[in-house]
Amino acid sequence: MTETTHITTPFTATSTAAEVVDGVDLTGRRVIVTGGASGIGVETARALAGAGAEVTLAVRDLDAGERTANDIIATTGNKQVLVAPLDLADQASVASFTAAWDGPLHILVNNAGVMASPETRTPEGWELQFATNHLGHFALATGLHRALAAAGGARVVSVSSGAHLRSPVVFEDIHFRERAYEPWAAYGQSKTANVLFAVEATKRWASDGVTVNALMPGSIRTNLQRHISQEELDRAIAAAGGTGITWKTPEQGAATSVLVATSPLLEGVGGRYFEDCNEAVQNQPGSRKGVAAYALDPEAAARLWQVSVETLGR
Ligand SMILES: NC(=O)c1ccc[n+]([C@@H]2O[C@H](COP(=O)([O-])OP(=O)(O)OC[C@H]3O[C@@H](n4cnc5c(N)ncnc54)[C@H](OP(=O)(O)O)[C@@H]3O)[C@@H](O)[C@H]2O)c1
Repeated sequence: MTETTHITTPFTATSTAAEVVDGVDLTGRRVIVTGGASGIGVETARALAGAGAEVTLAVRDLDAGERTANDIIATTGNKQVLVAPLDLADQASVASFTAAWDGPLHILVNNAGVMASPETRTPEGWELQFATNHLGHFALATGLHRALAAAGGARVVSVSSGAHLRSPVVFEDIHFRERAYEPWAAYGQSKTANVLFAVEATKRWASDGVTVNALMPGSIRTNLQRHISQEELDRAIAAAGGTGITWKTPEQGAATSVLVATSPLLEGVGGRYFEDCNEAVQNQPGSRKGVAAYALDPEAAARLWQVSVETLGR
């Protein structure tokens, strides 16, 4: 497969995570799913556990994590479903998590996220969505790099969103110190960062056998919408052309993550953006599908990496 081959698969927007992983044996593989106790994270973890992997749910709500782990164990029969504390907005928590991880890591699913939250800052003064969705996952993945490299052919899954089309990374004012805070611009920026991370991490880590791809899971009713009123949701539907949102089930919403994590069709492939279980095309003006050119821009990706390292004081 050449670098430029556009990846297509037999799967579609309605495929489920279980269908995508059918026939894939993950016995002996170790997986981390961040935010694995809610929404599509649960179904991502369930499908990977169902294929035989040891799955660690990295969560900030340990009770919810235990409940989810028990549910996944009951439905898959796989007892290797573990729970570990992780708060992505707290760098000390991320550092504890990575320090506690022992041995190889075959699949890291950077799934947790917060969307359109009211203006909130971490103690460092970082805007919460960028801090959680990007910086937390950046610190996690870089902190686990040695474990990923040790796996031989590890994959990192960077769960982005079509909302990345709302904003590039605004390097001049990432944390909204100069401009007025806008929850969707902040979410969009963080989700563009998730794609740029896939681009630069693959460039840096492919020689270690580690590849990173980003994806849009689709629109799924989950706790993610907790900060949005029905009125705002209606406005978003109207903005989408009034045709309404085609909602996926959580099992369908987890399918693209699971595809990116496990499909043999993606062997050695990295730095790309997928949606509806296939590599996305470039976004066209007026369309809400596809990937923005700015999200795949290698220069922006390199710059974001540098900024992230400096921000974290590495
Ligand atoms: N649902 C959609 O329509 C949609 C569309 C596009 C992209 N996505 C992306 O899909 C991913 C999963 O979203 P979802 O829809 O499944 O939402 P969800 O049900 O709200 O799950 C998000 C998870 O992230 C966790 N989380 C939030 N902040 C965290 C932090 N500081 N530290 C650790 N975990 C944290 C949440 O934990 P708590 O339960 O403790 O809050 C929750 O488990 C997100 O990255 C989202 O941006 C979703």
